[in-house]
Amino acid sequence: MRIEAHALEHFYGHEKVLNGVDLVIEPGSFTAIIGESGSGKTTLLSILSTLLQPSRGSVRYDGKTFGELGNIDRFRRHNIGFVFQFHYLISYLTLRENVALAALDQTLVDPLLEALGIARLEGRYSDEVSGGERQRAAIARALINRPSVVFADEPTGNLDTKNALGVYELFKRFSIEGTGFVVASHDKKIADYADIIIEMEDGVVKQIHQR
Ligand SMILES: Nc1ncnc2c1ncn2[C@@H]1O[C@H](COP(=O)(O)OP(=O)(O)OP(=O)(O)O)[C@@H](O)[C@H]1O
Ligand SMILES: [Mg+2]
Repeated sequence: MRIEAHALEHFYGHEKVLNGVDLVIEPGSFTAIIGESGSGKTTLLSILSTLLQPSRGSVRYDGKTFGELGNIDRFRRHNIGFVFQFHYLISYLTLRENVALAALDQTLVDPLLEALGIARLEGRYSDEVSGGERQRAAIARALINRPSVVFADEPTGNLDTKNALGVYELFKRFSIEGTGFVVASHDKKIADYADIIIEMEDGVVKQIHQR
């Protein structure tokens, strides 16, 4: 899915936190949104991912505006995956059950757990595995319905460097296979993995680097 943002502005009350953002996210690309705390990464990611409506400007998804997407729950379920800093796994369910709960096609669950290296942990609860393993389960849940694009906000915020790099490598691997990733992060190391790096500063795009 191609995502095009045009002249985005966003206010929280009277405070303007996005001030004219234009950008294009190409299908299957791995895009990193980096910048200092408060620069507007989460706000921009929330708008791009349909969770927040901008105060001004528009986002198009394969040419369609938000209003033209039809049933938004259905659109999200079929097209978008989400990963957050906190895994939001259901603690009463095993890792496998967390992924299976979201799955439209149950036959994809086991191969995906295998691909993410957590198949042997499938029967454990989220408090019985490490932070990196939990986050991989959350990534499996985001990928299970083969979304066109996965949005991740600080997905490695709670991980050490080794696990963080493991997550970026997973994103890279799936993006080579055609899934798009848009990832907001403080972590500059993500730039070694992403195809496009969007650098935010005070609510505007300061620079876009392409690798
Ligand atoms: N719900 C909200 N209500 C009011 N102000 C908000 C709200 N969310 C964010 N802001 C403000 O908007 C600005 C941008 O915040 P945003 O969360 O997008 O930044 P960020 O780049 O994601 O920061 P961080 O790296 O700390 O996560 C900040 O000044 C923040 O204080
Ligand atoms: Mg943020």
